[in-house]
Amino acid sequence: MARIVVPFLVLVAVLGCDRSKINESKYKEAGAEAVLPFKKGLKGALVAGLEDGPVSAIAACRVEAPKLAANASSESVRVGRASGKLRNPANAPKPWMKPLLERYETDPEDREPAVVLIDEHTVGYVEPIFMQPLCVTCHGAELAPDLEAKLDELYPGDQARGYVAGDLRGVFWAELARD
Ligand code: HEC
Repeated sequence: MARIVVPFLVLVAVLGCDRSKINESKYKEAGAEAVLPFKKGLKGALVAGLEDGPVSAIAACRVEAPKLAANASSESVRVGRASGKLRNPANAPKPWMKPLLERYETDPEDREPAVVLIDEHTVGYVEPIFMQPLCVTCHGAELAPDLEAKLDELYPGDQARGYVAGDLRGVFWAELARD
């Protein structure tokens, strides 16, 4: 019996049941799609908020961002953003995304979206976020005094300053149910 069963099991393992591998292009596509409404929503809220000046636009980042992330999430998808230099500690990178974030930070040549297996049921997706000229208003080295005062008040440990346009700021991430 063992003579038949053992080769059969080896064949199954080789052919189809290697759950340690993922279809990267499929999950990259799914991840990009998942974060898109969050990205668009944030940009829209920011641009609309800035019409009333940067101090009032803080609310766009502070109040709208968690709502937009929740709206873009569902039972099978969760999305968010994270950074190595945080303004809000609630946006700290989770353990699975830390190595990817560090890779983006240390290697400017390696800033393509990436996927990773988090556990048997979940695939993680990250894509880099870069600073645009608009972002420097609130994340640059020189901030308007009233804006600086408000940010100091709301985020006493703020690390997310001193950026210039083009800098890597962090990542958009998605946790996708694996099928
Ligand atoms: C009006 C000021 C303002 C502008 C403009 C702005 N941000 Fe922010 N940003 C904030 C605030 C406030 C937070 C903290 C939000 C929170 O409490 O979750 C934040 C948080 C973030 C975070 C999450 C990580 C962290 O440090 O908490 C990222 C990533 C980020 N901003 C990127 C950007 C990018 C990219 C742009 C330009 C497209 C931008 N920001 C423009 C004020 C701003």
